Amino acid sequence: MDEISEMDRRARAILGANDRGGYTVPTDGLYPYQWNWDSAFAAWGFGRFDPARAWAELETLFSGQWENGMVPHILFHKADPGYFPGPEVWGCKGPLPSSGISQPPVAASFARRIHEADPALGREAMARLWPRFMAWHRWFMTWRTDEAGAVCITHPWESGRDNAPDWDGAMARIDPAGVGEYQRRDTAHVDPHMRPTKYDYDRYIWLVQLGRRLGWDEAAMARENPFRVADPTMTFTLLRACRDMAALGGELGRDTGEIEEWITRLEAGAASLWNEALGSYDSRDVHAGTWSGAVSNASFLCWYAGLENARMLERYDRIAAAVKYAVPSIDPEHPLFDRKRYWRGPVWAIMNALIGIGLHDMGHRRRAEALRRQTGELIATRGFAEYFDPLDGSPAGGGAFTWTAAVWLAWASDSAEQY
Ligand code: GLC
Repeated sequence: MDEISEMDRRARAILGANDRGGYTVPTDGLYPYQWNWDSAFAAWGFGRFDPARAWAELETLFSGQWENGMVPHILFHKADPGYFPGPEVWGCKGPLPSSGISQPPVAASFARRIHEADPALGREAMARLWPRFMAWHRWFMTWRTDEAGAVCITHPWESGRDNAPDWDGAMARIDPAGVGEYQRRDTAHVDPHMRPTKYDYDRYIWLVQLGRRLGWDEAAMARENPFRVADPTMTFTLLRACRDMAALGGELGRDTGEIEEWITRLEAGAASLWNEALGSYDSRDVHAGTWSGAVSNASFLCWYAGLENARMLERYDRIAAAVKYAVPSIDPEHPLFDRKRYWRGPVWAIMNALIGIGLHDMGHRRRAEALRRQTGELIATRGFAEYFDPLDGSPAGGGAFTWTAAVWLAWASDSAEQY
């Protein structure tokens, strides 16, 4: 066996400890089920030393795919009383107990990377997964693009950036009266100052109850859900995933005509997320037609989506210089910046990896390498935390986190494949 570093060994041990047999949990306790984009990152990490296990992670994720193509953001494989809201609150009817919303579609992009590492194994796995990826992406294009072609979320949790300020406007228009009593479980695992507030939580649960009442029917939700926000995370990751599928489809001899059409439409959608007054990509409330007005780490996924933008580079340089550890989840000059609270300030290794890959692909190698090294230093010195304080690097949220370990193995460590 090859010699591996102590950090690589610890990262692999975290993936092993969070493995529940064919899927990983994000971290023991706080998140006891399979999460969609967490699993995609986990697969990327496993791909570094066990490609068969990497494919198993993705196949288990797709075993929860709904008939309409949607891939849920949580699969509740085994009941766990430590998490709220569980399957009984969502009330869904997919092949497995699940939530009724999705998450950023990064899985196909990682599948391409895992395939590159072992094409023979990849060809077999992709023969099964190709139609599944297509159906999921088609679901986004059918149900979740707005007139301009930007991808919209119907619940803040769908974006993966649960309590980002991006959703504040649309959330303020929800009156959560009648949401009833419920018992949060997240604040029993983690310091409440690092988690969303009760104000937000009431609205999260109200939206789940609405979806359930509408039978998670997308047409009904499009009519009745007051929360519909065009999101850079979704739009940029789907655009990237489609580009990766087109490249992979070329190698596998698949017809990629439909994907090319999606790419054109998503490029127009991405352009519609440009907020000229802010000078940045931004989230747009589809019902109210208003911008969020915050430069977030998702704004910097433009390069990952293959879009060049000089003004975003200027923004990036200013924000990266303002903190000790880039990339904070929102601009530190924004009045709502909160260095410890979840998606309102902290640094996330997964977002850094996507931003770094994008910077590198677009030829901004010096910035990409600086970000990769900084992220590596953060993990090596502060551990495999869920997220970190951008001002002093202190670890926050849950510990022994799957996706932080995966990012270490696949991108941030010296032994990683790097880009
Ligand atoms: C939080 C994050 C989300 C992630 C989940 C599991 O809800 O906001 O992005 O998928 O935790 O780690």
